[in-house]
Order: sequence, then C-alpha cells, then structure tokens
Amino acid sequence: MKGLVLSGGAGTRLRPITHTSAKQLVPVANKPVLLYGLEAMRAAGIDDVGIVVGETRAEIEAAVGDGSRFGLRVTYLPQEAPLGLAHAVLIAEEFLGDSPFVMYLGDNLLKEGIAPFVRAFERSEPDALILLQRVKDPSEYGIAELQDGRVVQLVEKPAEPRSDLALVGVYLFTPAVFASVKAITPSARGELEITDAIQHMIDRGLRVEPHTVTGWWKDTGKLEDMLEANRLILGTIERDVRGEIVESTLEGPVQVGEGSLIERCTVRGPVVIGAGCRLSDTFVGPYTAISDRVVVEHAEIENSIILENSRICRLGARMSDSLIGRDCVIAHSEALPVAYRFMVGDSSQIGIL
Ligand code: DAU
Repeated sequence: MKGLVLSGGAGTRLRPITHTSAKQLVPVANKPVLLYGLEAMRAAGIDDVGIVVGETRAEIEAAVGDGSRFGLRVTYLPQEAPLGLAHAVLIAEEFLGDSPFVMYLGDNLLKEGIAPFVRAFERSEPDALILLQRVKDPSEYGIAELQDGRVVQLVEKPAEPRSDLALVGVYLFTPAVFASVKAITPSARGELEITDAIQHMIDRGLRVEPHTVTGWWKDTGKLEDMLEANRLILGTIERDVRGEIVESTLEGPVQVGEGSLIERCTVRGPVVIGAGCRLSDTFVGPYTAISDRVVVEHAEIENSIILENSRICRLGARMSDSLIGRDCVIAHSEALPVAYRFMVGDSSQIGIL
C-alpha cells in the first residue's frame, strides 16, 4: 500500500497567512498540520509516500525533507496548477503504479488516524473505501447519499444537499480509480473532482465501501476549524516545562520549550509555548499555541495561535480566537495622536473593540 498526500492548492480561506506560506504548514499545537498526516501514514504501516506539491513546493520540502525523519520514503510530485483532487491522482499514476493507495488531503486531521481504515480496506478489498462524517454545513463538502448502507450518490459541495454525510479527506483506492479520473470532465469550478471520479466508479458497478468516522475530524482550511483543531490537539497534551519560569503560575497541561523565559505570568493550560519565547506580565489562557521566538508583554491571550517571531505588547483588552502570522507586531503605542496604526497584508481581518 502506498500513500498519496495532497499538499498543493491555493489556501484562499486562510489568507493572509497563505499568501506567504502553505496552508498545510500552519501549525496546530505548534506542529504543522501536514506532519500529523504523515505520522498517520507511518502509524498505518505505509512508508512509501508521494506528496503532491504546487507553488509552495520549496517550503513543503524544507519541512518534510526526504521523509526519513518520519520513517517514510517521500517522492515529490509537482502539480502545475491546482486543477483538482482527481487531477492530483492523475499526475501520481506513474508513482502509484499498480499499488493500492491511501489518498490523504494535507489539511485534514483525524483523531483516530487512518490505520483502522487501511485494515478495513485490506480485509474487505473493495475498489474504493470512503470515509464519512455528519456535518452541520453540508454545502461546504463533498456529500454522500446512502441507501441501505450503500453509496448511491456523491455530489461535490451541493447547493441543496440531500444528506449531511460529508466526505472526509481520506480515500483508499485500487488502481481502478485511474480509469475514472481519466473519464471525468472538470466541474463548474474548473476542477477535476475526486467526488465525480468516485461517482464514476459507482456508475461502472465498482464496489465503493463507506465507513463512518466516529472520532473527531477537522478540515483545517478555515480559521474556525483551525482553532478548533488546535483545541482538540491541545486537549491531549501533557505537562512538559523546559524553559525558565520566574514568579509565574502554570496551571494544568502546559508545555514550554527550551530557552523560553516566562516572567510574572499566569499560564492556564492546555497551552503550548515554543522555544526561545519571552513572556512577561501576561495571562495566557486555555487553548493557546505560541510558536518559537514569540515575545508577549503585558497582554492577555486565549484560544489563539501565534506563529514564529511575532511580538504582542500592551494590548488594551484580551486577545481571543485569533491566528497571528509570522513576524507580526501588535503593540500599544504611547505616541500621539491617539490612533490605530496598521500595516496589514492583503485579505487580513481585524476585529476592533
Ligand atoms: O476536507 C474534505 C473535503 O475536501 C471533501 O469533503 C471534498 O469533497 C473535497 O473536494 C475537499 O474539499 P476542499 O474544498 O476542502 O478541498 P481543497 O481545495 O481545500 O483541497 C484539499 C487539499 O488538497 C489541500 O491540502 C490542497 C490540496 N490540493 C487541492 C487541489 C484542488 C492539491 O494538492 N491539488 C489540487 O489541485
């Protein structure tokens, strides 16, 4: 069994973060989303993995390398443009050869990993196995309609969904999928949809087996989902304090990386703070992930993700539900006139009190 991880695409719903970096590398609990997927592959016994990459290839390669760090052999498969999930399968044909494979969308996160589904696929040997979970907003996903436990229809992001069973971003296929990805045509949004390819398999009379995902699943493509994934992973961490703690209170599961200094702070877990950070006179509330070399002074932060090298100082109110990119500065200024001063990238969102 081989693995195919999709890490191309555009990431429009996480702008401005994704103007400058791949959405699959935004960290959840201080670890890039993509790495959870790679670890899930390894845990399922898959070590030969192709990663589909687009314009953020260099960054993905820098994070993953040859895969040996994760016990994998990684082959990069460049996709000239994000022409759809089925297009990604098409360009991977030579790499996949006649092996069955797991396709994993690089921005998806599953609590139970993929091992149980790989085992189910090996046991019952269908032509394809799809994973489903009920969602509140079915028009944002590929949707499956079942009858007597069998898949009868799959529709990509239907305007009027006939069920609330969403396709999770993990699919298992035999090489029978190739004939279908070659047979379909681009959808209204101009992409070759894997949803249409699987429907084509059903229409050809092939066996597509549905499995329900019972543990949590998150597609981290949007801010709220990213923050929720962060909460779910942080909910599982254990205390591990390596930095220096001075006149501070650390409550519950808190992790502090090497070389960080926490002075006169209250940190209420679950919280993860990376290496080389400086936090002083600050409250860090639950479900916050602070990446390496971040500085926070005289501030209150909760339920947020802050990326490397950013600085947050003297905010007038608590910062909550936020995703702050790399090298950002958010600081109160004493200078007159009293005014908000912004230098903000394209597609940013700022909520003012
Ligand atoms: O997350 C589950 C959903 O994922 C499914 O319910 C949908 O049926 C499926 O189409 C997909 O929808 P999204 O709109 O969320 O897909 P997105 O464009 O975000 O792409 C998913 C991943 O695949 C992402 O990591 C980027 C990568 N990708 C995407 C495209 C279109 C590629 O590598 N190449 C591509 O051409």
